[in-house]
Amino acid sequence: MRFQDQVAIITGGAQGIGLGIARRLASEGARVVLFDQNGDELGVAVKELSGEEIEAHPVTVNVTDAEGITAAVGEVAEKFGRIDVLVTAAGVVGKTNIKTHEVELENFDWVMSVNVRGMFLCIKAVLPAMLKAKYGRIVNIASVSGKEGNAGMLAYSTSKAAVIGLTKVVGKEYAETGITCNAVAPAVVRTKMVAALPADQVKYMTDKIPMKRTGEIEEIAALVAYIASPEASFTTAFTFDATGGRSTY
Ligand SMILES: NC(=O)c1ccc[n+]([C@@H]2O[C@H](COP(=O)([O-])OP(=O)(O)OC[C@H]3O[C@@H](n4cnc5c(N)ncnc54)[C@H](O)[C@@H]3O)[C@@H](O)[C@H]2O)c1
Repeated sequence: MRFQDQVAIITGGAQGIGLGIARRLASEGARVVLFDQNGDELGVAVKELSGEEIEAHPVTVNVTDAEGITAAVGEVAEKFGRIDVLVTAAGVVGKTNIKTHEVELENFDWVMSVNVRGMFLCIKAVLPAMLKAKYGRIVNIASVSGKEGNAGMLAYSTSKAAVIGLTKVVGKEYAETGITCNAVAPAVVRTKMVAALPADQVKYMTDKIPMKRTGEIEEIAALVAYIASPEASFTTAFTFDATGGRSTY
C-alpha cells in the first residue's frame, strides 16, 4: 500500500497504459483521478474499475487546453487537498509508416501538441501543489522511439525525444524540493494505439526487441508504480527503460 492516502492524476487514463497504471496505483491505496478527452471511454473505464472495487474520478479534458487543465487540476487540489502523483500517459502516435518528406505539417503539429505541450501544461499545473507539500512524483510516459528514433514515425519520435528532454529539465529544477520527475520509455505494448498502426510499422518495432515479444500493460504499470512511490527517492530526471532489451541506456 505504497500510495495509502495519496492522490494521483493519470492523464490518458481512460484506456491502455494509463488505465493500467491507474488500476495499479489504486490497488496500492491511491485515490485516482483520470484525465482524458474521451468521455465515453472514461465512462467505460470508471465502470470497469468500480467492478473491481476501485473508485476512480473521471475528468473529461483535453491536455492541450491550457485553461481546461488549470481548472481541472485546481478542482482536484480543492476536492482532495493534495496531489501526490502525476502520470502523463495521454499521447497520440499520428500518421506512421511514412517518410519525413511525406509528413503533413498539421499531423506533426497535432502529435507535438498532445505529447509535448499537453505534458508540459499538466506538469506546470500540478507543481504549485507539490511545491507546497514539498513532495511529488511526476512520471512521464516517453517511448523508446524518443531514444532511438523509429523510421516512419518522425512526429512521434521527435515528440518523445522532447519528453525525455523535458523530464531532465524538470527533474533537475526541482531536485531539492522533494519532487522527482522521471520518464519511462516503453517499446511496443499492445494497446488500441498499436492496434491502429500499419502491420509493417508494428513488425519493424517488434523485431527490434531482443525478448522477441511485446510488453504488457501490467509490466509498464509495475515500473511506474515504483517510480511514483515514496521509495524512489534518489532518482530524478531519468528515463527508465522498458524495452525487453532493445535500448540498454
Ligand atoms: N502502446 C505502446 O506500444 C506504447 C509504447 C511506448 C509509449 N507509449 C505511450 O504510452 C502512452 C499511452 O499509450 P497507449 O498505448 O495506452 O495509447 P491509447 O491510445 O490506448 O491511450 C491513450 C489515451 O490518451 C488519450 N488522449 C489522447 N489525446 C488526448 C488529449 N489531447 N487529451 C486528453 N487525452 C488524450 C486517449 O483518449 C486515450 O485514452 C502514450 O503516451 C504513448 O505514446 C505507448
